[in-house]
Amino acid sequence: MKQNLTIALSKGRILKDTLPLLEAANILPAEDIFSSRKLIFDTNHDNIKLVVIRATDVPTYVEHGGADMGVAGKDVLLEYGAKGLYEPLDLDIAKCRLMVAGMKDAGEVEGRMTVATKFVNITKEFFARQGRQVDIIKLYGAMELAPIMGLADRIVDIVDTGNTLRANGLVPMEDICYVSSRLVVGKAALKMKHRQIQPIIEQLAAAVEARK
Ligand code: ADP
Ligand code: PRP
Ligand code: MG
Repeated sequence: MKQNLTIALSKGRILKDTLPLLEAANILPAEDIFSSRKLIFDTNHDNIKLVVIRATDVPTYVEHGGADMGVAGKDVLLEYGAKGLYEPLDLDIAKCRLMVAGMKDAGEVEGRMTVATKFVNITKEFFARQGRQVDIIKLYGAMELAPIMGLADRIVDIVDTGNTLRANGLVPMEDICYVSSRLVVGKAALKMKHRQIQPIIEQLAAAVEARK
């Protein structure tokens, strides 16, 4: 018997790159996700549903079994610090870097540095590993504004083209890590629904390879 399977998708910029991969694995939403206010979608399989949620909520849903598997950025996964998640596949989409950045003309920071970011845990760990003590200010977006307004000496944020940094007079200063979106599977789901999940992982892997 086929068990029910729920896949959590990050709404926002990852979604449009995720859907073609799912389609290659023959998982198709029953209606257009972008023009709907629904949060949960039927698919062409009776037993498979998609939930569309904030990127930062995907690991939470998957870890607690609210969804069996999901798609989330490595940045979100590192920040969440998920231990109950298995990460079987790099989907090779939404590729970018996590970086420290600051104002173009900013000199060395005297004394303790203030860093504005939404990635509080990643930032703490990055500087702690180097033995540098920093004060962190938590923001929820538009980190690039913080140094301009004198809120912080540096930011830690996603950099892709560098356009947002440049447009605001900032420059990248230190590289933290490479980021792309990953398929994640909950530990319970992996155990209980392995036979159903494994072929989906394989089909997604083939779709990722085909795009390269
Ligand atoms: P949020 O609203 O939480 O910022 P986004 O939809 O903007 O969500 O981003 C989702 C994921 O896409 C991020 O967690 C990151 O992995 C990746 N990402 C964010 N910004 C960019 C970018 N400019 N270029 C490529 N990937 C990005
Ligand atoms: C993301 C990220 C940077 C920007 C980087 O912001 O937080 O600001 O993209 O991309 P770039 O190097 O190509 O300019 P997003 O547009 O997702 O806004 P957000 O603050 O709402 O997350
Ligand atoms: Mg964003």
